[in-house]
Amino acid sequence: MCGIVGYVGEQQAQSVVIEGLRRLEYRGYDSAGIALVDGDALAVDKRAGKLANLEKAIVDAPLPPSTTGIGHTRWATHGAPNDANAHPHLGHAGRVGLVHNGIIENFADLRARLEADGHDLLSETDTEVAAHLLELQVATGVDLTTAMQRVCQQLEGAFTLVAVDALDPSRVVAARRNSPLVVGLGEGENFLGSDVAAFIEHTREALELGQDQVVTITRSGVSVTGFDGTPAEGKRYHVDWDLSAAEKDGHDWFMRKEIFEQPRAVADSLLGRHTRGGQLQLDEMRLSDQELRDIDKIIIIAAGTSFYAGMVAKYAIEHWCRVPVEVELSSEFRYRDPILDYSTLVVAISQSGETADTLQAIRHARLQRSKVLAICNTNGSTIPRESDAVIYTHAGPEIGVASTKGFLTQLVACYLLALYLAQVKGTRYGDEIALVMEQLEAMPAHISSVLDAAPEIYDLAREHVGTRSVLYLGRHAGYPVALEGALKLKELAYLHAEGFAAGELKHGPIALVEEGLPVLCVVPPRGRDQLHDKMISGIQEVRARGAYTICLAEEGDEAITPYADHVIRLPRVPVLLQPLVAVVPLQLFACELATAMGHDVDQPRNLAKSVTVE
Ligand code: F6R
Repeated sequence: MCGIVGYVGEQQAQSVVIEGLRRLEYRGYDSAGIALVDGDALAVDKRAGKLANLEKAIVDAPLPPSTTGIGHTRWATHGAPNDANAHPHLGHAGRVGLVHNGIIENFADLRARLEADGHDLLSETDTEVAAHLLELQVATGVDLTTAMQRVCQQLEGAFTLVAVDALDPSRVVAARRNSPLVVGLGEGENFLGSDVAAFIEHTREALELGQDQVVTITRSGVSVTGFDGTPAEGKRYHVDWDLSAAEKDGHDWFMRKEIFEQPRAVADSLLGRHTRGGQLQLDEMRLSDQELRDIDKIIIIAAGTSFYAGMVAKYAIEHWCRVPVEVELSSEFRYRDPILDYSTLVVAISQSGETADTLQAIRHARLQRSKVLAICNTNGSTIPRESDAVIYTHAGPEIGVASTKGFLTQLVACYLLALYLAQVKGTRYGDEIALVMEQLEAMPAHISSVLDAAPEIYDLAREHVGTRSVLYLGRHAGYPVALEGALKLKELAYLHAEGFAAGELKHGPIALVEEGLPVLCVVPPRGRDQLHDKMISGIQEVRARGAYTICLAEEGDEAITPYADHVIRLPRVPVLLQPLVAVVPLQLFACELATAMGHDVDQPRNLAKSVTVE
């Protein structure tokens, strides 16, 4: 997830673009860059690190005046966060400058073809190939708009592209497929941005673009076409948010915005994971098939929410791969003298990639000759750097302290790892793996349908202002979901909240149940085993003792109705994948209850986003 800005008008493009990038920096801060059209050349500066580095560079070495420009703030996907990989990228003769958000899935093929034709590519990014392709097109004499249409037809994946041509300062051209882009409509000037925050200071009139469209902005107008050049129209709207809301996409909290970004984050984390032949591929998997086949034990280490993702991973890996998996809190790991050797794979899950407990744990594991695989959301952070292999999640920057989209994308990465191991070890047939991939690819739509019920969950949450304690129950993959739901409520609403395995109830926790106690129950899908029925027995037991039962149950599950004071419906999905949908109402519940209690949801007391001390 990156931030993109484009401008053409009467103002100095440099200040409009830098200001826009500042508003979009929450989308990524691995590097920042700008390209301005200057006479018949491009003036470009780009720097690794935060936008402040770029700002300092252009104070030290000012760029020429220009009224046409593009800018980018990067959340690294392909290639390390350094100056060379920073955007804008240029075509081979430096005529076209391009910024990009998303993943061009067929970039390796395109790059190989360009290199065979003598192109020298300077970065490790997927973006640079598109810059070269665009420049090849404009060199044939067509304008940048036509060039963009032609290039987009060659690209696979999800992308927003914004480009300038040094020989045509009158226009900025952009395209989008499955990746955000909005147009800001001004007087004598027009804007492009990943979201309206990029230009909200200048105009509140915006144009929404459809899928697979190319847009050209000039000072005097905006024109839209399909990738095939067919004329199209955007949808005009008025933005009635203020500046701070615009950065949060109209939401009151970054956390709420991030909850609503989850369908997109899950889809992004699934992108590019197949080869053309249908085999699963994990491109940052630097362990050979033989090394993976030699693994006879997996230990997952993580903290907090990431630990709960690890618990789900245990169920998935053991089921699909038949390899024993232990899940361990990273803060406990090295102090208990764990048994490790070269045939143990240690999987470290960390959104930030900087959690000190997890970092120390992987260092300990590597000293014992174990291989370490990181599941991480932050490109270039310490944990992936010190690991033997990485699966990056593509949640984009998570600003809210309480993890939401970070968790869902960790789950996706865990499922992918489990399926990949099953493929390599041959414990599942190819068509079984393909079926689960299909089910995973349907999850963004399922998560969206859960989000559609947000108003109902908000009402429920507000009804619980004043409650002092909440229990969460789950079984199987629903157990970590119950733990995560309770953690969210503790963090945000500062309430006593506990998650339990429903089967453990009568071994102690049921003593906590008293009249009116809210108990949120994650009901497993109905299946061949007795999991579902056993869960219903547990719910009956707490209800009989006066609990107020809120049940998260799949569509069509009527067996739950007599024992539920409130039912939240979930889409019908397999039990192992249910956490991806079941946790969402619990996130919404905690966020809304904390809001109603007047707490700062994005920055809960005593907490930090990245815990870099042990
Ligand atoms: C909870 C939360 C924390 C983190 C934990 C690990 O909402 O955000 O529990 O999950 O501190 O952080 P990472 O994943 O960055 O290692």
